[in-house]
Amino acid sequence: MLNLPDNIERVTYPYLVIGAGLAGLNAALELAANKTVLLVCKEGLLESNTFYAQGGIAVVLSREDTKELHIKDTLNAGAGLCHLDSVRTLVEEGPTRVRELINRGVFFDRDEQGLTLTREGGHSRQRILHAQGDATGREIALCLAEIVFKREDIIVWTQTELLEIVLDAEGQAKGALFYVKEKQKPVLVIAEAVVLATGGAGQLYLNNTNPKVATADGVAAAYRAGAKLMDMEFFQFHPTVFYKQGWPRFLVSEAVRGEGAILVNKQGERFMSGLHPLGELAPRDVVVRGILKELKRSKEQVVYLDTSTMKRKLADRFPKIYNMLRQAGVNPEVEMVPVAPAAHYFMGGILTDSYGETSIPGLFACGETACTGVHGANRLASNSLLEAIVFSYRAANKIKNSLWRSQSGFFVNTHLRKTNVVTTETDLKQKVQFELACSTIRNKKTLQKNILLLQAEIETYTGIPGFYGELLTQHYLNMSMVRRLIAMAALQREESRGAHYRLDFPEVNETLRMNQIVFSSKGEEVWAWNSTGLL
Ligand code: SIN
Repeated sequence: MLNLPDNIERVTYPYLVIGAGLAGLNAALELAANKTVLLVCKEGLLESNTFYAQGGIAVVLSREDTKELHIKDTLNAGAGLCHLDSVRTLVEEGPTRVRELINRGVFFDRDEQGLTLTREGGHSRQRILHAQGDATGREIALCLAEIVFKREDIIVWTQTELLEIVLDAEGQAKGALFYVKEKQKPVLVIAEAVVLATGGAGQLYLNNTNPKVATADGVAAAYRAGAKLMDMEFFQFHPTVFYKQGWPRFLVSEAVRGEGAILVNKQGERFMSGLHPLGELAPRDVVVRGILKELKRSKEQVVYLDTSTMKRKLADRFPKIYNMLRQAGVNPEVEMVPVAPAAHYFMGGILTDSYGETSIPGLFACGETACTGVHGANRLASNSLLEAIVFSYRAANKIKNSLWRSQSGFFVNTHLRKTNVVTTETDLKQKVQFELACSTIRNKKTLQKNILLLQAEIETYTGIPGFYGELLTQHYLNMSMVRRLIAMAALQREESRGAHYRLDFPEVNETLRMNQIVFSSKGEEVWAWNSTGLL
């Protein structure tokens, strides 16, 4: 397998962090307190799902709230697959990590009483911190990126694409191979510990809320290196994504409903109230299915957010959304806002323990690319930024306190591979096919068909052995690999649970509660019993 040219450029750093969303920035800052960190990102320091997060960060800070309630809401949304110990860690350590963010200079919105908290779907209390109304992720990313940029002990490489995680002869992570766009060549980075914080995977789908960089690169590279992946069948669709033919999709935050907007059909009739006691503020999967049911009944492509009762509050509290709507030609003060569900957040990913440690020694994962067990079958709104800071902190501190130095000088799994060039039309075709098979409604026949198509695509991409020529299609290969794993897990889970809905198995199968699918490139998929998921 060792297939690297002798003259390949090699650099060594104590720690390597890949990805510059909240998890990557926070891990880099924590690790740099110890030794120098190389922070690598695919585009710029600000291109991440974190940057685009509107709603906020869920955390127990108010006297009306309790940690037990936040745990209960998280487990309820997770539909029987959350890992209770990880959820406890998330909720209990969350307030301290959020105070650290505030101490670093992140400015969350306040009123005379102090920090202002809002509510989102699935939350039984007001517990969502936000910044500049609906630009929470932007405020966090800008603040941390500025600190990172000023630190001499954090070296930043932008425009650098992850190719492979490299292992030594003992199977321990030893670094990673990248394609550095500026140099137009691969570079091997050797490090004592590797943190994957490569973010989300929304670009697997045609309709999504994620930036272009969200192509599941970390999940694919970790899988090729032999790491275990879990919960791949669970991809969360956000219920209210702006939809207008010929206009880019964008999120209309759940907090807009938390502040009073209601979901209606073309006739202005409310349809969520009969479906769940929390109505529009039910967990996301419930609202998505409510919308799909209404779309099927009405034969329309969109439902609407009626914000008329909010009056000026929409513009004042959600300035970013308000301006985007006006740019798209919709005046929400007098018109209803057309919305439909779109792919938003990947619950599945690289299996880690509660210290972000993967099944490969020396390889850590945190943020959306990881599967810590906190989200189960459906993530509770605004728990993701909290997960990113809590688990990146834990991973960094585990690394700082461990001896990860590899004893072996050999890389066993590193080979350069030339991938076929993928055109944007091919990518579009794959997105359409995958969206048909693997979005909110799935069934055996379309899943099987999609798996076969994806297998053929993967073979096409990797069909040319040898050194890299055109490397920039790596993310297309990654997306096909991860799509195939999602489709395979979705086929395996013969029930409907959380974000996973099978038309041919529309009910929850109680015998599958706390049973999770784990994949590894070393072996077949296994069903793992999650003994900590007790509600
Ligand atoms: C939103 O603002 O609705 C998104 C928040 C999230 O995905 O957690």
